[in-house]
Amino acid sequence: MPSTVLVGTQWGDEGKGKITDLISRDFDYVVRFQGGNNAGHTVIHGDTKLALHLMPSGVVHPDAVPVIGNGVVVDPGVLVKEMALLEGEGISCDKLRISCDAHVIMPYHKALDGAEEKRLGTNQIGTTKRGIGPCYQDKAARRGIRMQDLLDEKIFRLKVETALAQKNPILSKIYGLQTYTVEEICEEYLPYARILRDHVWETAQLLSKALRQGKNILFEGAQGTMLDIDHGTYPYVTSSSCVAGGACTGAGVGPGEIGRVLGIQKAYVTRVGGGPFPTELKFAEDGGTGQDAADGETLCQEGHEYGVTTGRKRRCGWFDAVIARYAAQVNGLTHVALTKLDVLSAFDTIKVCVAYECDGKEYDYFPMQQSVLFHAKPVYEELPGWKGHDLSGVRDYMELPVNTRRYIEYLEELGGVPMSLISVGPDRDQTIIREDWLEAEADMAR
Ligand code: IMP
Repeated sequence: MPSTVLVGTQWGDEGKGKITDLISRDFDYVVRFQGGNNAGHTVIHGDTKLALHLMPSGVVHPDAVPVIGNGVVVDPGVLVKEMALLEGEGISCDKLRISCDAHVIMPYHKALDGAEEKRLGTNQIGTTKRGIGPCYQDKAARRGIRMQDLLDEKIFRLKVETALAQKNPILSKIYGLQTYTVEEICEEYLPYARILRDHVWETAQLLSKALRQGKNILFEGAQGTMLDIDHGTYPYVTSSSCVAGGACTGAGVGPGEIGRVLGIQKAYVTRVGGGPFPTELKFAEDGGTGQDAADGETLCQEGHEYGVTTGRKRRCGWFDAVIARYAAQVNGLTHVALTKLDVLSAFDTIKVCVAYECDGKEYDYFPMQQSVLFHAKPVYEELPGWKGHDLSGVRDYMELPVNTRRYIEYLEELGGVPMSLISVGPDRDQTIIREDWLEAEADMAR
């Protein structure tokens, strides 16, 4: 079983960083395969917490090779800053490999991301404004600029010139924004090329060779299944393939190489940005009232639900088993890591959404039409909580309070996937590792 894909099963922010950090020491390569610096994960190095956006989390483990795959969009300025931050902490980035085919986020992508959001007004997606969508648009339109282009000044100048002939009129005539010159872009970007040159690689070949040598690869997903461009709540999604299949196209490996698919599932759900969210407990400032608004606020405060990338307060809601089942299906999950379970210790009772109701019809599956999702009312089961029990020190599953185990086993039954890792606090060691995971680890070592 050479490789594992780790994916978010909700709308991102499921706590992927901690689980990646926990398991990545067992891997020879840690690969990002989609997204860009719209992601945000905190990794722990000694006593220091580092907020990373683009770098694979595996960079903190000296034995792992961190790889940025072809499916990622790279803002070179952000990458260079992250490398400096890590080097400043004594973490070497020498082994970092960046795909020569990864697309480069340009200054006009960032300007267009903001302008397009403004144009959408109340229908805006709530993007991170990092230029992610416009960069993927250019990739699909076959006019993007790739890392390999950045390394060749002549080609880079030519490509920038061609791009600006299309972008400048859009920026000035449609959005009334400033235009760019080839010179100013080259002045900013060519120095990045000098720093990144030795890291740009044929990464698909590198990984293929590693697999032939029996090395273990961890594919580290960003965002989450419900933000996937194909399978998420379109158009309120990001622009890349966040599901497990994205690891194949975004890194250049065949599906047969994927042995294990680990879905990260938070014990409740959060979402940033716009779009449908059936179990949302609206905050008072968003028009919420009563117990729901109070419960949403408790989840936000107890779970520290503020974005690493944008600092925005995340929308919060109860666990949604409809999307959990859907995520199990579209990713082919073999295992689940349940995160932030300790946050639920604040409640007397805990709700779980088992189906949606819309126009008198009940859906226990992900509805085909977006309009159903927008109007769906959650059908809840209410379970007894374990208030007063501190879970943070528990390492053995059987030492969890009986109601906590009932909650976990109920989620397992609804989702159909074993919850093999259970996180009860932010630190790496605050994790319950169950038997089936240890068995899979032993298999991998064989
Ligand atoms: P974009 O990826 O910046 O284009 O934003 C598209 C949508 O995805 C917005 O709703 C963002 O809030 C959301 N999004 C992007 N990255 C993340 C993430 O890492 N966690 C959670 N939501 C994200």
